[in-house]
Amino acid sequence: MSELAGALLERIQSRRARTGIVGLGYVGLPLAVEFARAGFHATGIDLDARKVEAIADGRSYIPDVSSSDVLSLTRSSRLDATTDFSVVRQLDTINICVPTPLRKTKDPDMSYIVSAVEAIAKHLHTGMLIVLESTTYPGTTEEVVQPLLEATGLKAGVDFFLAFSPERVDPGNPTFQTHNVPKVVGGLTPDCAKLAGALYNSAIKTIVPVSSTRVAEMVKLLENTFRAVNIGLVNELALMCDRMNIDVWEVVDAAKTKPFGFMAFYPGPGLGGHCIPIDPVYLSWKAKQTGFDPRFIELAGHINAAMPHYVVEKVAEALNTKRKAINGSNVLIAGIAYKRDIDDIRESPALDVMGLLHAKGAVVAYADPFVPTLGARDWSGHADLQAVDLAGGTIGQYDCIVIVTDHTTFDYDALVAQAEVIVDTRNAIKKPYPHVFRLGAPRPEPEGRTVVA
Ligand SMILES: NC(=O)c1ccc[n+]([C@@H]2O[C@H](COP(=O)([O-])OP(=O)(O)OC[C@H]3O[C@@H](n4cnc5c(N)ncnc54)[C@H](O)[C@@H]3O)[C@@H](O)[C@H]2O)c1
Repeated sequence: MSELAGALLERIQSRRARTGIVGLGYVGLPLAVEFARAGFHATGIDLDARKVEAIADGRSYIPDVSSSDVLSLTRSSRLDATTDFSVVRQLDTINICVPTPLRKTKDPDMSYIVSAVEAIAKHLHTGMLIVLESTTYPGTTEEVVQPLLEATGLKAGVDFFLAFSPERVDPGNPTFQTHNVPKVVGGLTPDCAKLAGALYNSAIKTIVPVSSTRVAEMVKLLENTFRAVNIGLVNELALMCDRMNIDVWEVVDAAKTKPFGFMAFYPGPGLGGHCIPIDPVYLSWKAKQTGFDPRFIELAGHINAAMPHYVVEKVAEALNTKRKAINGSNVLIAGIAYKRDIDDIRESPALDVMGLLHAKGAVVAYADPFVPTLGARDWSGHADLQAVDLAGGTIGQYDCIVIVTDHTTFDYDALVAQAEVIVDTRNAIKKPYPHVFRLGAPRPEPEGRTVVA
């Protein structure tokens, strides 16, 4: 190990290293809190002044991080935040946790990484460790981050150290959080890998070293592509079951009793969130640049993207049993967050379902205890909406209720008792009812009709 690397290693192991986290969102804030808890001084840098103010006030804005933790860490001067990148001069390590969305053209949007790295580069000094955590295509650390940092005249692996370590946070998961999810780490050089491993080791239980930044980048894309492809498969199975009058939910539940060689995935209204719908596109974009045609990713993408249309077909079918059309019907979407019990609506399929119903003339409302308001810019209906309170006896006012996100706080018994018809895209209402249309399950028997064997 070089002398410079040895000095940083000593500062990390003695917790004297000053850690910095760029991007204080769902990934960055929990990480900053873990570093501060581990005994480091952690400084968050974010362009969003409201987030910086919240930290200064000892307030958390991320459900998985408690305000009491933020308050006690800021009070004990372990955690602070700023919008000013000049603090980089005082830092020994930086973890970059900025967004990596897609452009409208479905190409990777590297602008957040580029602007964060350019801002860091202005204050880069010898002996620093920079770790990229944002999910991205294989090669980003070497092809994008390294040249921007080396434009300062300092050399990666010699004057400063560079690594990639993918974030695996699962918002809303009470069992697995930043500290107990194994952390994959790939360094540009062996010194880079050792330093990044040591940093994480101080706050995270298990470190999984891999041979390069490219491998670490690919690991994350494999994990999320695996999910996207398997969800695509089970969504296709749900469409088949619909035709064959078989209950896909019963099929998956029985299949998962096999103790080996099977992993349960469930169908739903489409992919959501910042990761599963986006990350596979990063991989296919990069693969195409090498002349490779990534067929699985594309196929799963087509199937998953079509699911909101299928949900709308189910709504039409459900309303039809009441001699109603989508046009002019009052439709309530129950749950618009992209998954259960969280407040994140990024890429949520609920927004697509709402937009499609609106385009067909439905009057769309929504209920979501985690998302009190929906901005006009967030969906194609272009109206500011406020969440409806289902507890207020409002259920019966709607022609159709569509369960898109199965929050545990919804009163499903009340929905079944009071709704005119329900489309259930999550199997939240497990039993068959004449007015409940479940995705991928046999059509309910019309009320009043007796089945003759
Ligand atoms: N949210 C998840 O569940 C999750 C899970 C695994 C990986 N990831 C990946 O982690 C990365 C971050 O995701 P997130 O969910 O935390 O995003 P986020 O939008 O919650 O947070 C990103 C933060 O970065 C800040 N930011 C943007 N540009 C900046 C800049 N130039 N300088 C300083 N701050 C800047 C934003 O203001 C925001 O606070 C993404 O690449 C994402 O794909 C996210």
